[in-house]
Amino acid sequence: MADSLRIGIAGLGTVGSSLVRILQQRSKELAITCGRAIEIIAVSARDRSRDRGLDLAGITWFDTPEDMAKKAEIDVFVELVGGASGAAEKAVRAALARGIHVVTANKALLAKHGVELAVMAEEKGALLNFEAAVAGGIPIIKALRESLTGNHVSRIYGIMNGTCNYILTKMEKEGLSFEACLKEAQRLGYAEADPAFDIEGNDTAHKLAILTTLAFGSKISADDIYLEGISNITIEDIQAASDLGYRIKLLGVAHVTESGIEQRVHPTMVPLDSVIAQVDGVTNAVAVESDILGELLMVGPGAGGNATASAVLGDIADIAKSRPGVQQVPVLGRPAKSLSEYRRAKMKSHEGGYFIRLTVKDKAGVFASIATRMAENNISLESIVQHSRVHTEGGPQTIILVTHATMEDAIRKAVKAIKSEKYLVNEPQVIRIERT
Ligand SMILES: NC(=O)c1ccc[n+]([C@@H]2O[C@H](COP(=O)([O-])OP(=O)(O)OC[C@H]3O[C@@H](n4cnc5c(N)ncnc54)[C@H](OP(=O)(O)O)[C@@H]3O)[C@@H](O)[C@H]2O)c1
Repeated sequence: MADSLRIGIAGLGTVGSSLVRILQQRSKELAITCGRAIEIIAVSARDRSRDRGLDLAGITWFDTPEDMAKKAEIDVFVELVGGASGAAEKAVRAALARGIHVVTANKALLAKHGVELAVMAEEKGALLNFEAAVAGGIPIIKALRESLTGNHVSRIYGIMNGTCNYILTKMEKEGLSFEACLKEAQRLGYAEADPAFDIEGNDTAHKLAILTTLAFGSKISADDIYLEGISNITIEDIQAASDLGYRIKLLGVAHVTESGIEQRVHPTMVPLDSVIAQVDGVTNAVAVESDILGELLMVGPGAGGNATASAVLGDIADIAKSRPGVQQVPVLGRPAKSLSEYRRAKMKSHEGGYFIRLTVKDKAGVFASIATRMAENNISLESIVQHSRVHTEGGPQTIILVTHATMEDAIRKAVKAIKSEKYLVNEPQVIRIERT
């Protein structure tokens, strides 16, 4: 049998601890599968004294990940620390500078420095694998990077944040408010104490930016994503969506348009009978539309120690199975230096259906005025109804509009005109409808 693959693991938290356990429990089996043993020879985390319930006997401890990356006699540096910069970034750079392969689950790091790190890895002949960075255990990176080579991808979309999907699912199933469901998500450990990163869509945006690069061959551009979170989704929206045959999901969507690539993260109405609408709770799903293959939908666990460690393990095993001198898969699906500049399509030019919920004063002429403002902006309506579930006699009325495919710019202008009429009781709710 070939020499063992020596790995160093930085980060022994949720994912790192699971990985150590799995590697130790399945060491014999993995050695047979990979043709060589995978040996943990070094680890690093912040607190050496913490009891992690792990057997770290015989494994060298490093006080910093960077130190481990610089000094340990390892073949693979596994980064499970997290964060766009700081300890994780320094250590990954140090490992790549030595030509050591890197496996990471860190979407924040890749969203910010991915192209630069890919160039570095390719110059050094090192691999940089990151299956766990997007949608946890779902093997979407491998699918895009390897299996779909030669396909022209036209659209990629998905549910990539388990916390948001858990909250939206619970709101619908139990009729609870966003705030109540967020508290429950925090109690169960799905949401961080500061959940803004998840619920405002930033986490999904990081993952989408990575997928966009793999799908369309443009440089990672996480700051160029149109972003709307789920914090202003109400139970009324969810009920109205259901009455109209839709379900609300936080989707990340990227597709090619004539003016560039559209990348957006926002609450989205998807048809109730679509497969993606059935993806509940913390589960993730990613769909890819491409010309040769057609439609691909992958559904599975998007987070959690074991699911994420499974993806990390797959990346390590790929390296264990690879042989020196054999052509490696480029980090971002094509040589990093050949990635094109990202050309952002303007959100104003987005075309699709819209759901608009207006809460208005109960007075004559409001209905007609709304219809007129829509017509003035050439918006064709599929329906305009007074929503009876929330109707109280004499009190504010809820009017729900659903449009046919129209331009975002027209919707913005029409909503602005309606707001100037002074019959609105509160801010209009606008939710995009996605064909799935
Ligand atoms: N958890 C998931 O479900 C999941 C899913 C997909 C991707 N990921 C990604 O996987 C990575 C790890 O996530 P996680 O949930 O396992 O995180 P975690 O539980 O917070 O663990 C982080 C680990 O990194 C160590 N660490 C943090 N800062 C450090 C520093 N400055 N120097 C040395 N060690 C440091 C911590 O040490 P101490 O233990 O001593 O504090 C801890 O062991 C992140 O990039 C995350 O985005 C996680």
